[in-house]
Amino acid sequence: MDKMRVRGGKTLSGKVSASGAKNSALPILFSSLLAEGEHVFHNVPRLVDVNSTAQLLEHLGCQTEFKGNTFRVNVSRPKEMEAPYDLVRKMRASILALGPLLAKYGHAKVSLPGGCAIGTRPIDLHLEALKELGAEINLDSGYVFGKTKRLKGTSLIFESVTVGGTENILMAAALAEGRTIIENAAKEPEIVDLANYLNKMGAKISGAGSSIITVDGVEKLKPAEQDIIADRIEAGTLLIAGAITGGQVTVDKCRPHDLDALISKMRESGFKIETTETSMTVQPASNWCGVDVTTAPHPGFPTDLQAQFMSLMTQATGTSVITETVFENRFMHVQELSRLGADITPKTRVAIVRGTRGKLKGAPVMATDLRASACLVLAGLIAEGETVVNRIYHLDRGYEGMENKLRALGAEIDRIA
Ligand code: EPZ
Repeated sequence: MDKMRVRGGKTLSGKVSASGAKNSALPILFSSLLAEGEHVFHNVPRLVDVNSTAQLLEHLGCQTEFKGNTFRVNVSRPKEMEAPYDLVRKMRASILALGPLLAKYGHAKVSLPGGCAIGTRPIDLHLEALKELGAEINLDSGYVFGKTKRLKGTSLIFESVTVGGTENILMAAALAEGRTIIENAAKEPEIVDLANYLNKMGAKISGAGSSIITVDGVEKLKPAEQDIIADRIEAGTLLIAGAITGGQVTVDKCRPHDLDALISKMRESGFKIETTETSMTVQPASNWCGVDVTTAPHPGFPTDLQAQFMSLMTQATGTSVITETVFENRFMHVQELSRLGADITPKTRVAIVRGTRGKLKGAPVMATDLRASACLVLAGLIAEGETVVNRIYHLDRGYEGMENKLRALGAEIDRIA
């Protein structure tokens, strides 16, 4: 069981590049099921979740090849349209196979993903919307069984914003008969990247990135090629790594416009941040003040940066009230940060962080989920002495070579088996 060991006290400086976006690569890889033949994707991050997706695509009869950051997948008609439990339980995003299999082949058997540390993570909104597209959906012994002659376009509205639900419906509607209008759609940049790829395959989608997306179904899609957009959550995490150590760090090969909410909160806290089209630089700061943050669907403050920002606020002067509105249990990192000496009072959806500048002391801590593990590594960068983050496999699901990137910026960090 790998651990990450960090010795605090180094000021990071220099330039680091963001990798491709995990949360764009996963839906786009699943969208390849909509068109038989060879698809090619560039700037795909080398992550455990991408490997899990490759495993599931191969289980569905595809050939995959992942060299460097180029991922090729040759799709042919699956022998069985099943995404089994032992693959889905490793990665909830496997539910994104449901929409494409239903749209392309008219039937699918996908294991219910089950919950995870940050919440129950139901898929009721996905299933309701697929039913509105005419699919017959049944749940039996832990599986979703979907069946349809051909999905039929319709107007539907998500009662609450769901990234995965929007993605599943986008992919399903691409091959449905007639027009689908999705209201209250998620507006994340990864939705736009997916819609761009679907349109490259021949789909007719407009409005992606806004809350109303229109899809005119087509008979057939063909394989294409795409560069995956930069990972805004990884880029934000690296920017915070520079900021929390009081260093000057530039993150390049990224899309600062995707991080307007984080950048404006960091500026409000007192950081000087310059941006270009493809890079952002945080200037050295000797102190910064606590600011209140409420997470929300894009373009609001990303829930996936809440834990990392909390680490930054433990070093602020004053108090920061952090409100998590997207997931019901995304404060597991609070107890771990408290082990390092942070002064945080967690309530159900709110955590009150009292800045204890310079008072964190290294200790062994436990990663509970992907973004919590990043938050603990960030805290280790400034905690006095040594911090060992256990269960670092969580980090490997979503960060490509995090320790190498931080070490290149001057961090004293290494992985211990
Ligand atoms: C995606 O998860 C991301 N994962 C998550 O990133 C991210 O935190 C989340 O969107 C929100 O931005 C991928 O893209 C692979 P949702 P997803 O459906 O699609 C509830 C990371 O760290 N909900 O937008 O599962 C749900 O419980 C991961 O990279 C329902 O109630 O998120 C949650 O409270 C973590 N019913 C809220 O909606 C449903 O049918 C938002 O979930 C679907 C969702």
